Order: sequence, then structure tokens, then C-alpha cells
Amino acid sequence: MFVIGSGALHLKGEISEKADVVEVEIKKFPDGEKYVRVLGEGEEAIVVQSMYHPQDEHLIEVLLLGDALREKGFRRLKLVVPYLAYSRQDRVTKEGEPVSIRAIMRMLGLYYDELYVFDIHNPKTLGFFPGKAYNISPARVIAEYFREKLGEGIVMAPDKGALERARSVAEILGLEYSHFEKKRISPTEVQMTPVDVDVKGKNVLIVDDIISTGGTMIKAANLLRELGAEKIFVVATHGVFAEGAIERVSKAVDDLAVTNTIPTPVSKISIVPEILNV
Ligand code: R5P
Repeated sequence: MFVIGSGALHLKGEISEKADVVEVEIKKFPDGEKYVRVLGEGEEAIVVQSMYHPQDEHLIEVLLLGDALREKGFRRLKLVVPYLAYSRQDRVTKEGEPVSIRAIMRMLGLYYDELYVFDIHNPKTLGFFPGKAYNISPARVIAEYFREKLGEGIVMAPDKGALERARSVAEILGLEYSHFEKKRISPTEVQMTPVDVDVKGKNVLIVDDIISTGGTMIKAANLLRELGAEKIFVVATHGVFAEGAIERVSKAVDDLAVTNTIPTPVSKISIVPEILNV
């Protein structure tokens, strides 16, 4: 039985085609505080809540849903978080800072027994969750979306850290994979150099976890064009697009797609098949 938070309403239709979705009432009090009421009964529930903007509201809501479900006697609660906020703040870089993702994981652990996150920024941070926690790879749904378009092409990661992601997609498709060397000069500027790979005349798919300003993908795409690549496709799990990023990236490539962990105009790849498997 699924319970859908307001950060996952865009997934509700597709989930309810295949599984039971319990009704919940979610609204705000006049002072802005959240109100939730769960209308179903049962022993086990899977709550789905994505935590894009407004992140803090979505977070509070998932805690309230957990409390409401426990209050109703649900014994076993799983939480599926397509996009987990605060996951990039996974270390102290200046004295006095929190490890934000640890604080979030501990809060979620107050109510939920199991946690499923899509393509978490740093999988090691799942260890902060008190119960069982899993990182779900969107590689399968991404690979199926691009199988025909890409043909006998190459899968590239924009940097070495993203190589595993590119490898997973490439292996499903039985294709070659490689990566760029990426150096961030400022929050909005990245310098990239290609590694030894022949992309001339080939279609290329660049795979990353997040697109924010689009700077990384645009640099990579321009470089691939200079190297003679045929069609260039870009994909990321999470479309955390900054103002104007969708337009800028779309102009630079042949297809831009992200999964629907966050609803955006280019969330063309559904993660629901993976959610139904948890
Ligand atoms: C970096 O750690 C991430 O994997 C992405 O490469 C990055 O967030 C993309 O940012 P932007 O779209 O601003 O270049």
C-alpha cells in the first residue's frame, strides 16, 4: 500500500495503475503549518516523497505522515525518496557546520524502518540512516529510454566520479564507456578535458547524477562536437535546473532527458517501475 506525499504527486497516477494508493489529506493551516491525515488502514505502508523545492516542507510532511501512520497502528514503514534534499552537504568544510545529510537521515529514522533513495549523491551517507537504507540506480530505465536513439554509440561520464553511473548504463546496452576529466573553476564554471576515446562519427550519451546550471553538460557536449561526435544526448537522474538551464542545455544537444525524481518539462524517463519493486 502506497502513501504519496505532495512532493511525489506527479508519480501518483502511474503508481496507482499498478498498486494500491491510500488517500491522504494534506493541507496547510492559515499560519503556514502543514496538516496531514491518512485515510487508510493496514500493517505496512510505502511512503513516497520527493524532496525538491520547497525541500523543508516536503521533509516536515514526511515526518508527519510517518507519525500519522504509526498512530494508526502501521507496524512497518518504508520510505522511498526519489530526490533527497541536503544530500550534497555530506561533510564539514568549515568549522561550525553540520553534516546536514546526517541530521536528515536521523530524523527520517525516527519513523521509517527502510529507506530507498534514488542515485544519492554519496552512497556512504546511507549509513547515517538507523535502519536499512538502499541506493536505487536508474540505469535500467535510462538505458531503455536511449537504447534506440544511441544505437552503437558511446556512453560518457562528465567526470571520473560519475564513471560508475555511465558504466552501469553502458553495460545494460552492451556499449563502450569512458569519461572526461572535469575541474570546477567556480560555482558556475567548469573546465573539461577529454580522455582517450574516439567519438568521431558516433552517437554519444553523457550521463550524470544532477544537472543544475547545465554548465557541465554544455561543456562536455561542445567538446564532443569538436571531436566529431554525431548525435549528442544528455541524461541525469535529477533535474535540479537553475533558471534558463533547460533551454541552454537543449540548444547544445540532440536530446535532453532527466528522470522524474523531480517533475520538470524534460522529466521524460519514469522511475515508477523501480519504485514498484521496493
Ligand atoms: C557534481 O558533483 C554533479 O555530479 C554534477 O556534475 C553537477 O552538480 C552539475 O552541475 P552543473 O549543471 O551546474 O554543471
